[in-house]
Amino acid sequence: MTVRHFLLDTDLTPAEQAALLDSADRFRAQRRSPEAQRPLAGRSVALIFEKPSTRTRLSFEVGVAELGGHPVVIDAATTQLGRGETIEDTARVLSRYVDAIVIRTFGQDRIERLAAAATVPVVNALSDHAHPCQGLADLQTIRAATGRLAGVTLAYVGDGNNVAHSLLLAGAMAGLRVRVATPPGYEPDPKVVRQAAEIGARTGGAVEVRDDAHAAAEGADVLYTDVWASMGQEADAVSRLAAFQPFRLDESVLAAAKRSAIVMHCLPAHRGEEISAGVMDGPASVVFDQAENRLHAQKALLTFLLTRQDGANTATPT
Ligand code: CP
Ligand code: NVA
Repeated sequence: MTVRHFLLDTDLTPAEQAALLDSADRFRAQRRSPEAQRPLAGRSVALIFEKPSTRTRLSFEVGVAELGGHPVVIDAATTQLGRGETIEDTARVLSRYVDAIVIRTFGQDRIERLAAAATVPVVNALSDHAHPCQGLADLQTIRAATGRLAGVTLAYVGDGNNVAHSLLLAGAMAGLRVRVATPPGYEPDPKVVRQAAEIGARTGGAVEVRDDAHAAAEGADVLYTDVWASMGQEADAVSRLAAFQPFRLDESVLAAAKRSAIVMHCLPAHRGEEISAGVMDGPASVVFDQAENRLHAQKALLTFLLTRQDGANTATPT
């Protein structure tokens, strides 16, 4: 039986993605209900962090506990991973203890190697390449705020990074029109753009990469930005600060969008850099709903991966 992983947004089909968003909405609605289900009762989930985290760590830890499971949070530097034990041996050992492995790391290849050696589902909790759990929560947030996904125009302004990649792929799967505006040299990976365009051709979605923030924002339903220097890019922060100045999500960019437009940021944010304080804290901002939805979307994802009806992904070490 094949084990299902969630390493990239496209590891779900568009139909599975849509079902998962419905499930995430149910988790949100039933959160405080005494009837809330405990589908992970008796299960354990390892959460490995090779980079810092606030939202991802907290939302997975609380989410697993609310599902009745046991979360084991691991700072990789305090384990043998930090002393050079291979990711493959780590996957084999953890697969004997836990029912799923959630990992935040640097290269996407590291997550792929972990998944290849694991016998339990592996979830990407952010890599340099993608942030698919963020993508799911973002779609849930957009649907709650606008009432739909198909045909929604999302303008992402800033760095063509992991978050941009997940918005391109997850957005195209859901039928969004995703515009990305970056300075030259900071565009998203052309392979991701091509793949998102191919997906969009099947779902009614579309993607565009531009070099003008205001043009991208023109008539948009959703404006989105992220930090200019991601984790691991600290050495480039000064040159990036200069290059990205015309790509700040500020009042003038917001004015180009629809009057009803919402503003999103995966957080953490730097007010005065990639987003102005006024926009970040203004009435269009849904950034804290977005952060909350990480919890609901990830509960839906783990429930999907660990309770599939075909019997796959149950923890039976081989
Ligand atoms: N958005 C996000 O992943 O936040 P953290 O880095 O705090 O987990
Ligand atoms: N692009 C950012 C996202 C943080 C949640 C980073 O990788 O640091």
